[in-house]
Amino acid sequence: MAKKYYITTPIYYPSGNWHIGHCYTTVICDALARFHRMKGEDVFFLTGTDEHGQKVEREAQKRNITPMQFIDPLVSELKDMWRLLDVEYSRFIRTTDADHIKSVQAIYQKLYESGDIYKSEYTGYYCTPCESFWTESQLKDGKCPDCGREVTLQKEESYFFRLSKYAPALLEHYEKHPEFLQPKSRVNEMVNNFLKAGLNDLSVSRTTVKWGVPLPFDERHTAYVWIDALCNYITALGYGSEDDTLFRRYWSADLHMVGKEIVRFHAIIWPAILMALGLPLPERIYGHGWLLIGGDKLSKSKQNARPELTDPYELVKRYGSDAVRYYLLREIPFGSDGEYTNEKFIGRINADLANDLGNLVSRTQAMIGQNFGGTVPPRGREEGPDGELIALCGAAFGKVEADMDALNAPDALADIFAVVARANKYIDETTPWLLARDPEKRERLAAVLYNLAETCRICAVLLKPFLPRAAGAVLAGMGREADGFDSLAFGGLKAGTPFVKTPPLFPRIDLKKELAELEKLVAAKKPATMSAPEAEKPATMSAPEAEKPAAKPEISFDDFTKLELKVGEVVACERVKKSEKLLHETVKIGSETRSVVSGIAKFYTPEEMVGKKVVVVTNLKPVKLCGVLSEGMILCAEDGEGRLSLVSPERAVDSGATVR
Ligand code: MSP
Repeated sequence: MAKKYYITTPIYYPSGNWHIGHCYTTVICDALARFHRMKGEDVFFLTGTDEHGQKVEREAQKRNITPMQFIDPLVSELKDMWRLLDVEYSRFIRTTDADHIKSVQAIYQKLYESGDIYKSEYTGYYCTPCESFWTESQLKDGKCPDCGREVTLQKEESYFFRLSKYAPALLEHYEKHPEFLQPKSRVNEMVNNFLKAGLNDLSVSRTTVKWGVPLPFDERHTAYVWIDALCNYITALGYGSEDDTLFRRYWSADLHMVGKEIVRFHAIIWPAILMALGLPLPERIYGHGWLLIGGDKLSKSKQNARPELTDPYELVKRYGSDAVRYYLLREIPFGSDGEYTNEKFIGRINADLANDLGNLVSRTQAMIGQNFGGTVPPRGREEGPDGELIALCGAAFGKVEADMDALNAPDALADIFAVVARANKYIDETTPWLLARDPEKRERLAAVLYNLAETCRICAVLLKPFLPRAAGAVLAGMGREADGFDSLAFGGLKAGTPFVKTPPLFPRIDLKKELAELEKLVAAKKPATMSAPEAEKPATMSAPEAEKPAAKPEISFDDFTKLELKVGEVVACERVKKSEKLLHETVKIGSETRSVVSGIAKFYTPEEMVGKKVVVVTNLKPVKLCGVLSEGMILCAEDGEGRLSLVSPERAVDSGATVR
């Protein structure tokens, strides 16, 4: 029986605004799934969407639609994105799927009956303006750590999971299974910061959130979204349902691939739940790094004022899915973060795909066309550098397999491209264009071109999991589309096989021109916004990412009057440390002075700002941006190039004047 391989991505929040960072986890999993399928394993590859919770509930309410009406189009967009990127999953689970909901209820029931879930009271300090609960130790001087305002002690009925009970067993598991969580750096954090410090029981139900799975033993409560979401890894296989065939076939997971910000949920809470259910733990959890933009985690809102094209649909349309896959799989050192820029992206396509791989294939095809009528010549006697090229081809699969076992796609690709580079060097060494001029060297020419065609085939087979389209095109050019890893022995290619010139796999891109084009394209796509300081909110563990800039519905005059706009005078201004975008202004509004942070550092110096009269939204919920309190928003106009310009009263007006 074939070895099974069960691999999962996290399930995505239906936040829309999909960007290339979102594609990272799933493209890596797809390459791994394809690789294991090609090894003949019985692969189940799971992905999906995490659809419950307050955020969705509120977004739907805001738009006066049902949560499902809000979610459905976003889920379709996400599925389109995976189709465009050639992601081939076995199941796309939605936490609103009826079978998932039933199984989550069965899981809660089981844990309730075994005593691992019990009713108690959730006690926390509540900050009403921020709508956040805090524990006593999180408060700053007894006040809300975000906005510095008074908090009130509140109690809410909740069911708890006995997480604390599982800390010793989890510690023991970490000791016995050093491969459980990778990379190693993430283990220290989990063990020292959480497990050794002791775990608190976890509140796993809410009475305030209606958009969730109702608890079977108390319908006033809904399941905490993270528990609902984590359970997808087993409910997708039918755990807790009448038909658990898939569960018995595939569980436990061979790999949960997740972004580093959600490792804690996967490496502590999830295994504890599995222990409580009496189920085996996953073999491996991998916490990968992030794609960064301007030093921060890439998110759509970070896009403002940057020339990077991060929209996966646009990227695939412009460069093809293989180019996007290649960048994601090759460029970011695995486990670490990697900065995303247009230049790096195009640089990779040009250097590796167009120059190295594209040239090898097109030169080989051209020379076989010119000298042997487009069919592969017979293999000849080995001489000169042949042995080295053949040995490298022979060793490549072993290296790639070891890299993929270590989940290191960048190294796997580097190993394949080392063969490509060696073959290009081989062309320079053997100078087939000179051999072609001498009829006595025809046999040698045939041998050289055979070796090159066979190297193209072997590289294409190895590249199938990573670049399915380009690899498929090379193999189709030889009528060898079906070649798998069992065809890798050098010499498998038969003389007489056609290998004719095909369109270039990756046309070379004029870097300078393309960068200018991209800058224009991105600027033209930017939504007209205010100076949106939201843009630099730190990433949180559980909050969905940036909201979709939906077309704004008509509003009533009453709606408009909810905004409080006032004229303010900037009396002091400085740059926000560690931010390229933010300025921190002290704004006098009548008799009051406010701290305001705005994303305008690229357009105004602090000196220029002082003395300016500006329009401020004064009743916006305060937020902290890069650790600095912002109690309002300064209005700006944005031109088609993404440049911001302050909005100021046309005549002299005192600060504090109302804008309406
Ligand atoms: N819904 C939770 C996961 C629940 S799993 C039981 C969630 N969803 S998410 O939509 O916010 O993230 C989905 C995946 O996208 C995560 O692995 C996350 O790390 C990844 N990425 C989102 N932005 C990213 C980058 N900028 N870079 C790399 N991956 C990032 O978390």
